[in-house]
This record gives sequence, C-alpha cells and structure tokens, in this order.
Amino acid sequence: MDLKNRDLITIDDLTNSEIESIFSLSDEMSDKMPEQYGLCAGKVMATIFFEPSTRTRLSFESAMHRLGGSVISVADPKSTSFAKGESIADMARIISSYADIIVLRHPWEGAAQLMADYATVPVINAGDGGHQHPTQTLCDLYTLKKERGDIKGMTIALWGDLKYGRTTHSLIFALAKFGATILFCPSPGLEVPDNIMHKLVTEYGGELEKFSKNHKQNQTGAFPVDAAYITPEQPHQLTMMPGIDLEVTMKAGVDALYVTRPQRERFTSEEKAADLQFPIVDQKLMSGKELQRALVMHPLPRVDELAYDMDADPRSMYFKQAARGVPVRMALIALALGVKKNTMPDAIPATKVDYPVYRREYGVKCSNPRCVTWQETEKNYLKPEFKIVSLKPLTFRCVYCEHGTEPKYVASTEWHQGTTDAKRYNRANSHLAKKIRPENLIAFDSAEEAEKHGYLPGHYAQSQAVKEKPKNE
Ligand code: NCD
Repeated sequence: MDLKNRDLITIDDLTNSEIESIFSLSDEMSDKMPEQYGLCAGKVMATIFFEPSTRTRLSFESAMHRLGGSVISVADPKSTSFAKGESIADMARIISSYADIIVLRHPWEGAAQLMADYATVPVINAGDGGHQHPTQTLCDLYTLKKERGDIKGMTIALWGDLKYGRTTHSLIFALAKFGATILFCPSPGLEVPDNIMHKLVTEYGGELEKFSKNHKQNQTGAFPVDAAYITPEQPHQLTMMPGIDLEVTMKAGVDALYVTRPQRERFTSEEKAADLQFPIVDQKLMSGKELQRALVMHPLPRVDELAYDMDADPRSMYFKQAARGVPVRMALIALALGVKKNTMPDAIPATKVDYPVYRREYGVKCSNPRCVTWQETEKNYLKPEFKIVSLKPLTFRCVYCEHGTEPKYVASTEWHQGTTDAKRYNRANSHLAKKIRPENLIAFDSAEEAEKHGYLPGHYAQSQAVKEKPKNE
C-alpha cells in the first residue's frame, strides 16, 4: 500500500513488502545520494526529542537535509510548553500546523500513538519509553539483509536488557514476520515482558519454548539461552524434544547476536538496588563455536556490555547499522511525504489482527504505570482504550502501550437494562463472562470499583469478593 501520510508507531504498521520497498529505495538513495537533494524541497520535518538521542535524531535530520527539506527541532523538553504541563494532544495539533511530518521520542509508553491520534500529519515513533522503536528495527533488518541476504531461516540471538530495550521489542516482531528463529538471552531479571511473548505466539504463529535454569544450554554459562521462538516457516520439533532441537539450532550456528545495554533509566527502584549482572560480549564469548560466524549488532549507545575489543572484528556491524540510518530514514520520509511511491506489490497481508475494542470511561486502567494514559497532563481528555485479546483469561491490551491487563470482574449492559437493582458484577473467570458480547462488556479492576459505580456482587462474584473485602467492612 501507499505509505503516503501513514504513521509509523509500531513495526506492525508495515507489511513485509512495505519494508522491502523502504529497503529498495534506501539502496537507490544511498547509491545516488546527491541526486536526492530537492526531493523534499519546501517540506518541513519536526523532530521532538524528549529523551536523549544521538543517532536517531541526527540521522533523521541528516536524512531530511539530504532530501533538501527543512528541520525544526526540540531536543530538550524543558525548552517547550511540555514543561508547563501542555498535553500531547495540544502539542500534536500545534506542531501539525508547523511541519509536514513529526518524529517523536518520548519517555511515556504509548505517547507516539497518542500524538498520531491528534496530529494531522504523519507521526514517526522514534522510541516511546520501553515500548517500541520501529525505525531502529528498519536499520537492523536492512543490515541483516545487506550482510547476509534472506532473513527467512536465520537464527538471531537477542542479548542483554530484553525487558526495557525497546529496539528488541520492535525487532522481535519484525524477525517473526520475516521467518527468523529467535533465541532469547536476557540478563537475569530483564526478560522479555509477557505481553510481547503473548503477542508473538498468538499473532505470529510459531512456537515458544522456555528453558529451565538447569537446561544444558544454561549450565554452560557461556551462551545461556532462556527461551527460543521457532518460526512456523521452519518446522521444528522443539516442543517435543527441546534439548535436542536447540542443540541442532546451535550447531548450525547463530547468524547474529543482537546486544542491548542495560536501560538503567527505566529500572524500578528494586531493579536499581538489585545486583543485576550484565554479561559482556567480547572476543572470548565470540570465539564460541555457535557464534563463530555471528554478526555482532547493537543499536548503540554501548556502556559496558560490549567490549571495545570487538570494534575491529569484521563480524561487528554496529557502526554500519548506525550509518545506514540515513538512507533508511531518507526512504521512509520520502515515502511518508508522498514524494516517492511504494514500488513493491503487496503480496503478504498485514499481520495486524482485528480485536474487539473496549472503551469505557471507568472500571479498568492500564496495568502499566509508564503508560501515557496515567500521566497528569493527559488525563483530562484521554480515556483508557483496550483491545480484547483473550477471553480466557479475560485480557485487555492497551491501545497505547500494548501492555496486558486482566480485569477481575465483569458486568453486562444486557443484565440490567436500566434497572439499578439488576446491575450485578461477577468474576471475570466465571462462565458468565464468556457469554457477554464485547459491545455489552463492562469490566472492573476490583470489586470496589464495581460497587463505586453502583454494581452489586452477583452470584459468581461472591467467593472472591468476600475474600478480598470482608462483608462487614
Ligand atoms: C536505542 C534507543 O534509544 O532505544 N538507541 C538508538 O536509538 N540507537 C538504544 C538504547 O538507548 O540503548
């Protein structure tokens, strides 16, 4: 499809063929860089960066300059009305009247989606908290393709902070889309969040196998694998013989080791206080049999997790990944502004699944405290909104930050039909819950919340409600 005027918030916003189209235009542009000047003449890009950045902001700006467009930029939140408490919705409306495209980096998860909801020009997510960073993923995929060809069938190991590393979150879905096998090697305590694993297996197919701490691969310590995602493109017997199959995969060798730094700025106080270990990627680790031909990738910046002794190694790709940010972002800007057209036929349909939407003003809040829906400046106009991604257990996915929330109680608009004494709530895991049609569903985080809104405990609320809230209270 045409990318003109489209937002890029998560990597799911692009089909494989759209990604291929961005890459073929990136190739064309990097081959004939001077000829691109003038393509975006008269267009203005706003780069709004409320978190530190070197590569992402400068490569976006360099890309727009090379296309002959102009750039207006904010790199310090304290210098904007954000510091005075201005909402993202208002900022979106204002910046849309100054620029033709907005690139946003923000610490709140879901901020880019919210900006896109109110902006009248395309919004590109340059990183929203620990959620996603789709344009870094484009640079990562582009590097894999340029260095090794077809991503289908590759084995990619993700290493380091997989809990807060937003680049890995976007990359996981991209690798799954293109049919790669993924090995998860998190620093202990920084494993991939459940909502991401859930989305991976339910929407991308394939199999996910988690290995116990005693698993052979973990015992060696050299290359501990916590979990593996086996693409449906490459039929394995992993769930039947996990040990054997992982060994086969490892013997074949890893194609790339994707390293991330500990995202300390996002750690909870407990994580800051805990003595979390961050194994180092260096020549010693990379001399292991399974890593012999593995590319070493990193979105940068590095701290201590990637040794400088890797820099001269031909397997190291991180400086190339960063350099490729310019042609990749040039292609993306040109397509989003409509000065270039998507050249690839849309052979593979989008992976986005259409779930029923849940949107009520009360009852359920997103379980993620870093979500944009929790922020003071946004609460006057922003109502929580979810996709109902599972009925058993009842699970909502926030449309902004994509975190999962499991409401405890439910009611149905059909049960009370206007009469207050028929307003009953029941446990979300009771058989009644499944009978409620999505459009009639009312969900609650707690019994207190249900009662605050005039609902009484129904027959199937009692047992848990009593446990949580003694009757005589
Ligand atoms: C990454 C980011 O900001 O998420 N950096 C980047 O954009 N290249 C990775 C990081 O900060 O660790």
